[in-house]
Amino acid sequence: MRYAVSADSVAAVETDCLVVPVWKGGKLGAQAAALDRLAGGALGAVAESGDYGWEPGDTHLLHQPGGCAAGRVVLAGAGDPESFDAAAAAKYFAAGLGKVLAGNSGRAHFDLADLKPAGDQLAARLAQESEIAAYRYRATKPSAKPAPKLKQVSVSPAGEQTAEALRRGAAIGRGMNRARELGNLPGNICTPEYLAEHARELAGGCDKLSIDVLDEARMRELGMGCLLSVAAGSTEEARLIVLDYRGAGDRQAQPVALVGKGITFDTGGISLKPGLAMDEMKFDMCGAAAVLGVMGAVAELGLPINLVGMVAAAENMPGGKATKPGDIVTSMAGKTVEILNTDAEGRLVLCDALTYAERFKPACVIDLATLTGAAVAAFGHQANVLLGNDQELIDRLLQCGQDSLDRAWQLPLWDEYQKQLNSRFADMANIGGKLAGTITAACFLSRFTENYPWAHLDIAGSAWHSEAAKKGATGRPVPLLMEFLLERADRN
Ligand code: BES
Ligand code: MN
Ligand code: ZN
Repeated sequence: MRYAVSADSVAAVETDCLVVPVWKGGKLGAQAAALDRLAGGALGAVAESGDYGWEPGDTHLLHQPGGCAAGRVVLAGAGDPESFDAAAAAKYFAAGLGKVLAGNSGRAHFDLADLKPAGDQLAARLAQESEIAAYRYRATKPSAKPAPKLKQVSVSPAGEQTAEALRRGAAIGRGMNRARELGNLPGNICTPEYLAEHARELAGGCDKLSIDVLDEARMRELGMGCLLSVAAGSTEEARLIVLDYRGAGDRQAQPVALVGKGITFDTGGISLKPGLAMDEMKFDMCGAAAVLGVMGAVAELGLPINLVGMVAAAENMPGGKATKPGDIVTSMAGKTVEILNTDAEGRLVLCDALTYAERFKPACVIDLATLTGAAVAAFGHQANVLLGNDQELIDRLLQCGQDSLDRAWQLPLWDEYQKQLNSRFADMANIGGKLAGTITAACFLSRFTENYPWAHLDIAGSAWHSEAAKKGATGRPVPLLMEFLLERADRN
């Protein structure tokens, strides 16, 4: 998508489709009212028809209203002006874009003059929503509808930072789409090596980005017994992918490190999952996909930060060489783990990656993982679930979740939960029993993250939609993480 800023009045803007707000009760905004006068009352007639409540989500398309350069005008509900906020704006934009994308327009124009908060934040949101709305999964579906016609989105009025806001919002949206596409690809295409190749291509396109892909031989040398134990039953080799982005003025400045769970398919291993909806375990690499989405967006923007993005990629399969319940493996940190359930594999690939992260002397580490069904049971599909060992970092991430509409909710990581991981035969077990599954999974990780500020995002509920009509990866929590990184960039 191309983006443009226009200083023209809405009537004069060169576009195929104008989108303007209508407030609850059918009241036209100032821009729409001006258009309405030029169009001889055509807009007001629809607004006041009573056919719509004009909540965010309502839209109506007018052809050739007259009086303006555009051949189409979309009236889009904006709801109550008093309660119009970022969430309402996102809904307003998504609905307006949906109407535009359903038609034949190559260019669309949004006037933001009547909307709050004025200017740049809204422009960023519009660009993000534009990228998201235009995404279509096509990779394995030749019969999919042709790509949408829309190629340009423009906005008015022209603020000082509007162009930059559009650039940032578009990068976030594209980062989400990268994560969605990788998430949506099936397990027989999106293997650990596929993720590695994708990361290599990303690194190839950016001077500030370098890459190292560890194969199983190198993992063995490093003693990554936990990560390797997950891949043991699969014919697909595990990969530990490390992308190193150096954009800060000081190349030595401590980086943020992101670590993504990249289980390209999770059968459960010998502790085999039941068959129902098992296909959704192709999404078990959505943490990895979000890391790659963020790295792509940060590279595109050239942010002045240092950022290490790591992906722990493996396929969890049963097989003659697969790890069995009761097996004991040794992590890179030297701690032994009794594997009581091979379906608790995410924490095993993550723990060795989290130990490896230490060598980058990170300012903080954030891991992203579709880690527990318990997170879905507790929060449904709304929240990223957040735990960690540093309340300052957690508070910041909670705020970033609010601001980016990609919300997180914290669970406690109290010491009392740690004993659920006790093992008779090893330093710890890989499961903590029936209760508090999301917390005990984080407890497991906490034993490998003692040397830096650390936060864990369990994205099992937020990373994909299960409902048939919109089944697919969401691209979360790319917005939350980008908010966090953009803030750091603005401080640098
Ligand atoms: N990838 C799953 C978690 C998951 C399950 C995410 C369903 C989304 C929907 C993870 O590897 C897993 O299997 N976790 C187990 C852990 C248990 C064995 C302690 C779980 O949550 O059941
Ligand atoms: Mn599992
Ligand atoms: Zn899993």
